[in-house]
Amino acid sequence: MVNFQNLKTYESSGIVQHYAQLQQLQPAEAAILTQLKDQLPTMTMLDMGVGGGRTTQHFAKLAADYRGIDYSSGMISACQKRFASSIDPNSFTVCDARDMSCFADNTFDFILFSFNGIDYIEHCDRIQVLQEIQRVGKPGGYFCFSTHNLQGMEQVFNWRSHLSYNPINTYIELVIWSLHRVFNRSYSLQQLQSSAHAMIRDEPHNFRLRTYHIRPQEQLIQLASGFKNIKVYSWNQGIELSPKDLSSNTDMWLYYLCNIQ
Ligand SMILES: C[S@@+](CC[C@H](N)C(=O)[O-])C[C@H]1O[C@@H](n2cnc3c(N)ncnc32)[C@H](O)[C@@H]1O
Repeated sequence: MVNFQNLKTYESSGIVQHYAQLQQLQPAEAAILTQLKDQLPTMTMLDMGVGGGRTTQHFAKLAADYRGIDYSSGMISACQKRFASSIDPNSFTVCDARDMSCFADNTFDFILFSFNGIDYIEHCDRIQVLQEIQRVGKPGGYFCFSTHNLQGMEQVFNWRSHLSYNPINTYIELVIWSLHRVFNRSYSLQQLQSSAHAMIRDEPHNFRLRTYHIRPQEQLIQLASGFKNIKVYSWNQGIELSPKDLSSNTDMWLYYLCNIQ
């Protein structure tokens, strides 16, 4: 079932405006663009959860064919307006990732779900979305997405990790810690530590969004049935992480690049 609170947040004009002015690729996205650059001119690309078109301006001009979808009609209108002079407005469609029946099987060579867009979907729907991606993607095609790291959130939930010798920093950090605790009363630190994934209200957009967080090792298991050659990248350094480092990684989110089976 759709999370209406998340959809309402992504439909609100202030949030649409926020995403419509974003420009830069994140370092992991830039690294992945560099890897795929030579192939993009022959690729059909699907940009899922396109938001206000931050990634459009980097990818659309390179791909042979570019489509952007989002379940927020406000985001799609913002993209159509932002790229009115360069991209056919029909390239942007209101579409929920859970049901991409408007696209035939084996349509796309490259599917991107950037900036944790997949995390605003509940667990059982996430599995359905991964199956939809596998269906509309060509076998051997690429899927790239980012997702929040539960191990990063564990640090946020642990008050001890917010103590420092600077009393002002400690005060600010503990206020943020207490807000996380207030907005997530149903989760204790111990519960997070024993969970493979969890829906958490986190700080961006003033705790309005319920956001999926998952352990990297668990994400690899989730992908195993439909995807292969999975690589994991630090979002802010753009470097590929080795599998042995994943269980101790505490980045707030990570990028994944894989091939569709
Ligand atoms: C964090 S924003 C990122 C926007 C854009 N990709 C960017 O990087 O700036 C997440 C986006 O995913 C979209 N989204 C969330 N759930 C979705 C779903 N079930 N189907 C399609 N889009 C969805 C939201 O509307 C929002 O635009």
